[in-house]
Amino acid sequence: PRPDAVSLAVIPGDGIGPEVTAEAVKVLEVAAPSGVKVEQNRYDLGAERYLATGEVLPDSVLAEIRGHDAILLGAVGGRPGDPALPPGLLERGLLLRLRFELDHYVNLRPSRIYPGAASPLANPGEVDFVVVREGTEGPYTGNGGAIRPGTPHEVATEVSLNTAYGVERVVRDAFARAQRRPAKKLTLVHKTNVLVHAGAVWWRITQEVAAEFPEITVDYMHVDAVMIHLVTNPSRFDVIVTDNLFGDIVTDLAAAITGGIGLAASGNVNPDRTAPSMFEPVHGSAPDIAGQGVADPTAAILSAGLLLDHLGFADEAAALEAAVIADLAERDPGRPRRTSETGDAVAARLA
Ligand code: NAI
Ligand code: MG
Repeated sequence: PRPDAVSLAVIPGDGIGPEVTAEAVKVLEVAAPSGVKVEQNRYDLGAERYLATGEVLPDSVLAEIRGHDAILLGAVGGRPGDPALPPGLLERGLLLRLRFELDHYVNLRPSRIYPGAASPLANPGEVDFVVVREGTEGPYTGNGGAIRPGTPHEVATEVSLNTAYGVERVVRDAFARAQRRPAKKLTLVHKTNVLVHAGAVWWRITQEVAAEFPEITVDYMHVDAVMIHLVTNPSRFDVIVTDNLFGDIVTDLAAAITGGIGLAASGNVNPDRTAPSMFEPVHGSAPDIAGQGVADPTAAILSAGLLLDHLGFADEAAALEAAVIADLAERDPGRPRRTSETGDAVAARLA
């Protein structure tokens, strides 16, 4: 990247995507270091584009997106059940394709209960952990098929792919993140007692990499037990590293206990920086509230903070998060806010 500018590919998407992305960009512009210009190119991709043109992610668009320093995504998707949108089309053709093509092997989901955020747990304690979910392997690679589809004799497979290379690079990233955090703890999450082949790879490589990080306390938990502990004792976690499918499930529960979908941010990260990383709120396009100007843009704003951190602007990222924390503490739960009010309030704190 150039020292005086960051180039962003912005994919606002569908529904509330454009509404929350506008606020994230607004905040990003004031949060970026002085002297660094935020340059944006907008790409209209998602359900609307598909319904209008039949295109999901043209190769030429992917090539252009690849030329940026980072990607900011809102959300894509139409109304669930819309017969004009084949199931899985946007997930496979756009979201997963971007992750695979740009080698986003770390799916990062910070999970904190901020002061003032409403957790459904009565006494959650201090909750501040991060889930490092593998992003390019597991059962999400499309390695499967069906024979005799639609008949009583249908056979369907969805094979989980686990390479030593893929496991090692994500485990290494998780250890490096644990090393930078005060608690210095890493929990491997899997189901090694039943999924013995994949489990053995994750277990062995975690032990091997652990030997290089003597300061880190390492433990292991089965994914079903994690469902219990996230609800009864979430403060025990610091860094969780896990495979693609388990991570998908763990992070939704993590979002729920930390104050809900309006706050959950994520990054699809290529730590080797061979392609731009992509930052997005965890939530979808929320067709039920789209166009009303009431979506909470906080998750999108926090995702922009992860973007700053990834680009090396750690102080600015911390300031952005602090501004969000201060803003959360000041919100009146009895008075729902407009989407732009939250963006304005956070931006004003940073200006
Ligand atoms: P959703 O996350 O869009 O909505 C679930 C519920 O949460 C809705 O009641 C919605 O109003 C509420 N909600 C979500 N974000 C909110 C926000 N920022 N502020 C306030 N309320 C918020 O999930 P849903 O309904 O399952 O999916 C809707 C569409 O989004 C589908 O087409 C789905 O495929 C797509 N989707 C896209 C994702 C992405 O782009 N990464 C992720 C998840 C879903
Ligand atoms: Mg999910």
